[in-house]
Amino acid sequence: MILAGGYSNEREISLITANSVIKELKKYKKYNVLMSEPDGNFIKKMRKFNPNLVLNLLHGRYGEDGYIQSILESEKVRYTHSGVLSSSIAIDKEISKKIFIKNGILTPPYLKFSYKKNTNFADLKNKINKRLKFPVVLKPLNEGSSVGVYITSKNKFISNLHKLEKFKEILIEKYIPGREIQAAILGKKKLGIIELKPKRKFYDYKAKYDASAKTKHIIPVDISIKNFHRVNSIAMKAHKLLRCRGVSRSDFRFYKNKFYLLELNTQPGMTSLSLVPEIARHQNISFIELIEEIMKDASINK
Ligand SMILES: Nc1ncnc2c1ncn2[C@@H]1O[C@H](COP(=O)(O)OP(=O)(O)O)[C@@H](O)[C@H]1O
Ligand SMILES: [Mg+2]
Repeated sequence: MILAGGYSNEREISLITANSVIKELKKYKKYNVLMSEPDGNFIKKMRKFNPNLVLNLLHGRYGEDGYIQSILESEKVRYTHSGVLSSSIAIDKEISKKIFIKNGILTPPYLKFSYKKNTNFADLKNKINKRLKFPVVLKPLNEGSSVGVYITSKNKFISNLHKLEKFKEILIEKYIPGREIQAAILGKKKLGIIELKPKRKFYDYKAKYDASAKTKHIIPVDISIKNFHRVNSIAMKAHKLLRCRGVSRSDFRFYKNKFYLLELNTQPGMTSLSLVPEIARHQNISFIELIEEIMKDASINK
């Protein structure tokens, strides 16, 4: 049984991922596939279908953050990707950063900002000047797909800050220039890395999912062997620290010979423009093999 769609900002991406996965599974006659939204009826449907595995293809809140995982745990059904704890920690960009920092993984310095009625913006700007320096990146604590991410200069800071007010709390991160590199882990294997060169200002929603935005995907990445191993090892360390299962993708900035871990994704996309399938393909792992590896590494709940 496949779970897809859901209630997050990344609903559309999850449906595209599910379509490409279902198309692939259908080529091989051995799977009896039922797709479901994680809606009010899904538990009933799941009990009736009695799947031997749930392939979780949800992204973002309620699908990637431990909520759906805890329902699947209590239904005693096997499911793919990370479990309750890993998912809830990884989706929280602040808590996961704290774990990375504590364990010697470099991540951009940040401040947490809570929206209040009487914020002293002059003080805030001073604090940023001292601790981070402009430009900075504003981002929600638990969104994905670059939703709500703003790179901002000092001039536009206040107006951009207001745009994220609905999130109540956000991260203000130091902007790290340099290159955008992502690393995938599959089970116990370091799958490899890919570099993204967006034509847009940064790797935003459009650069990620719209082919007309013409983001360049570079693989193999032009990097020294030492740095190749370094970044793969950081991704593996982060994967293990958060106790991830199945596949994960860690997003890095590479600047002045240092890798800064931005975040770890426990439910990376599997659309035709997605990076994990592309990294796998480069390792001669076909799409079906990738899906089957993810399914093999599912929880053992029965
Ligand atoms: N500190 C930063 N410095 C430079 N670019 C950043 C920084 N944080 C985010 N970005 C840009 O925004 C994109 C999305 O940020 P990320 O933290 O990965 O959140 P999301 O969960 O939305 O993918 C990154 O891929 C990168 O291009
Ligand atoms: Mg990201």
